Amino acid sequence: MQDSYGRNINYLRISVTDRCNLRCRYCMSEDGVDKLDHSQILSFEEIVRLVDIASQVGVRKVRLTGGEPLVRRNIIQLVRGISNIPKIDDIAITTNGVLFAQMAEQLKDAGLQRVNISLDSLVAEKFKYITRCGNLTDVRNAIFRALELEMHPVKINTVIIKGFNDDELLDFAELAYIYPLHIRFIEFMPVGDLLFWKKERVLSARKMQEAIEKKYVLKAAKKIEGNGPAKYYNIQGGKGSIGFISPMSNHFCGECNRIRLTAEGSLRGCLYDKREISLKHALRSGAGDEEIKRLFVNVIKMKPFKHNMNAGWGVENKRKMYQIGG
Ligand code: 5AD
Ligand code: SF4
Repeated sequence: MQDSYGRNINYLRISVTDRCNLRCRYCMSEDGVDKLDHSQILSFEEIVRLVDIASQVGVRKVRLTGGEPLVRRNIIQLVRGISNIPKIDDIAITTNGVLFAQMAEQLKDAGLQRVNISLDSLVAEKFKYITRCGNLTDVRNAIFRALELEMHPVKINTVIIKGFNDDELLDFAELAYIYPLHIRFIEFMPVGDLLFWKKERVLSARKMQEAIEKKYVLKAAKKIEGNGPAKYYNIQGGKGSIGFISPMSNHFCGECNRIRLTAEGSLRGCLYDKREISLKHALRSGAGDEEIKRLFVNVIKMKPFKHNMNAGWGVENKRKMYQIGG
C-alpha cells in the first residue's frame, strides 16, 4: 500500500520483547530496562493475527527485533506462525547473536530466511566493554553458523562510535573481504541511552568510507529493491560487501518502506516519530479484522515525510530503541 508520499509500504518490523541479554552502553542503562509485564506485551497469537491483517494491506516482509528477539520464549513458534501466512514471503531477524548459534537450525526450519547480527567490536575486551557483559565468541559462532546454514545475505550491523571503534573500520572491512558477509556501518544516533551519545562521537558515513578506501576499492553496488536504507558497495576482489547507513548525515526517508510494531503492541510510522496507535487496545477490546485494517491504513497515511532527529526528535522521543525495535 502507498503512503501519502507515494512510498510503497511493504515491510513490518516487530519488536517481540523489550528485554535483552546484553546491556550496550548506548542503548540501555546498566540495570537494563523497566521490564514489561507479560500481559503488557503482545502474545504470539496476537502478533500472528496482526501480521495476517498487515499482509492484507500489502506487507510482504517481516523482521523480528527487540530488545533481543531470541530471549523471548518459544520464539521459534512465532517464526513458524508468521511463515505460514501465505502473503508473507520474507522473514528475517535482527539479533545480537548471543543465542543464535544454538537456535539457528530450528529457526531456519521454522522459516527464518535471513539474519542481521549486531557487532560493534572485533576485540574481545572492547566487545565486553560496549555490551557490558557480552562474549565475543558467541557472536563469532553466530556469524559462522549463519554462513554455514547459507542464510544469505548474512548482514552485520556495526555502529561506529568515534574514539571507540573507528580504529576497527578496516578490520571489519577485511571480514567482508574474506567472507561473503555484508557489513553495514551505522552512524551513531541520539536514541537509546542518551547519557552515552555525544555529538563528538558521531562519525559520518562519508568519513567511514574514506577510511576504508585507504585500503580497499569500493564499487557502488546496484540498489537492490527492498534492501533497506544502506548504500552498498562491493569490495574489489572480496567476497562480501559493505554498506553505510547514514541517518544523521543523509535522510533516506524518501525510500523508507517500513512501519513498526512495538513490543507493547503500538504501531508507528517512523522510528523517530512519537505518534503511534495502540493495536493491542483494539485487539483486546474485540475489534474485527476490518477495523484493525483501518488502523494500519491510518498509520501508513500518517507516516511522516522525513524524520526530524537532528532537530530534537531523538531527545523528545520517549521510547528507546529496544522498545521500538531498532
Ligand atoms: N545509533 C545507531 N545504531 C543503534 N543501534 C541501537 N542503538 C543505536 C544508536 N543509538 C543499533 C544496534 C543494532 C541495530 C538494531 O540498531 O546496534 O545493530
Ligand atoms: Fe541489546 Fe541491541 Fe540494545 Fe545491545 S543494542 S543492549 S544488543 S537491544
